[in-house]
Amino acid sequence: MSQKRSNISGFYKLSYEDRVKVVSEFSGLNGEDVAWLKKGAPEMEDVEHMSENIIGTIGIPFGVATNFLINGKDYLVPMATEESSVVAAASHGAKIARVKGGFTATTTGSFMMVEIQVVDIDDPEVSKQRVLAEKEELLTMADTRSNTLPKLGAGAKDLEAEIFEGFYGSMVVFRLVVDVRDAMGANVMNTMAEYIAPKIAELAGGRVCLRVVDNYAIRRLAKATCVAGKEAIGGEDIIDNLLQGYSCAYFNQHRATGHNKGAMNGITAVVLATGNDTRAMESGFHSYAARCGRYRALPVWEKNKDGDLVGTLEMPVQVGIIGGMTKLHPVARTAIKILGVKSADELGQVLASVGLASKLAAERALAAEGIQDGHMRLHAGNIAMMAGAVGKEVEIIKEKLCVLKQVNLKTAQDELAKIKG
Ligand code: MEV
Repeated sequence: MSQKRSNISGFYKLSYEDRVKVVSEFSGLNGEDVAWLKKGAPEMEDVEHMSENIIGTIGIPFGVATNFLINGKDYLVPMATEESSVVAAASHGAKIARVKGGFTATTTGSFMMVEIQVVDIDDPEVSKQRVLAEKEELLTMADTRSNTLPKLGAGAKDLEAEIFEGFYGSMVVFRLVVDVRDAMGANVMNTMAEYIAPKIAELAGGRVCLRVVDNYAIRRLAKATCVAGKEAIGGEDIIDNLLQGYSCAYFNQHRATGHNKGAMNGITAVVLATGNDTRAMESGFHSYAARCGRYRALPVWEKNKDGDLVGTLEMPVQVGIIGGMTKLHPVARTAIKILGVKSADELGQVLASVGLASKLAAERALAAEGIQDGHMRLHAGNIAMMAGAVGKEVEIIKEKLCVLKQVNLKTAQDELAKIKG
């Protein structure tokens, strides 16, 4: 069988039915998966148990980004986002990167950490050493809280500690390192921390305060790189402009924030589509961007000796494929099926690649014609609907606004009045 390819020409021009057919064939979706995609939400009786004070669900558009080639494997990437142009940008960035072989991605492994804070201690160094001396026993205790991880050779692996001078005296923060494999891991980590905390307090001769998962997940990093050839990106001048823009983002926190948002556009959309924790991912990403003591641009751009653009993105990836919403939510389950990832590590590699692709497309537009033309063309359908267009009218008004290069509400209302008249 020939390898499946995600560079599907004209995918965005297909009808809804045809797009679903292509994705179903690519990812082996069945009728039930497709029905869930169309429905968009679990049955209300199940939604009732997913959060609190439920009175409904909100439908967010769910699409797939095309063209992704990561470590030699083709992916169609599911994305849930309310922002028009996010899916198009990721697909476009992936298309540029694909010319030079796509993305190369790695991970450091699925190690999460959980913190246990000990206060009211006389000598923090002595407390720290007394606890660390019993590390093996504490790791064994922690492992009793998981039925699965130790059997997989995963589970509690290390215990480290750091001393801080706080507002109310010294504290020692212990960090339990756990290989959580394909889980996001927050629940098992917090359970382990709460279980070993009394023993740590006893050994330290202090009082335990916080016991909570560490979202600065620097032992669970994914790194993606790509080369954007100067021809594919539109010329060396664009690359030079782009590098000027990157320099602005590196030194200027205002621009760094938007620069990073361009990567998060794609990342958050995939995290949401797969039922993962968008807040954990986002807090970890931005914290990692500030790891040198100052908030910096996280996607990095350079020029190589051939004059091509080289992009790198390294970031914490706190995602799983086996627990919580990733399993309970039928659309999230379908998203993981569409992606075809076999491990949380692989999902992390996809996320870093998607972040880089999203950023590449935004950077290219900013360095060339600007972002507004493309963005407004993709936004024109929303403007048409805001003006009151329905059904086929939406496409007609959208086309008209683009031809007139007047993507605004007033023009949409005027054009709609003409049609109706
Ligand atoms: C818009 O959603 C994202 C951008 O603002 C990102 C950036 O500024 O790089 C275009």
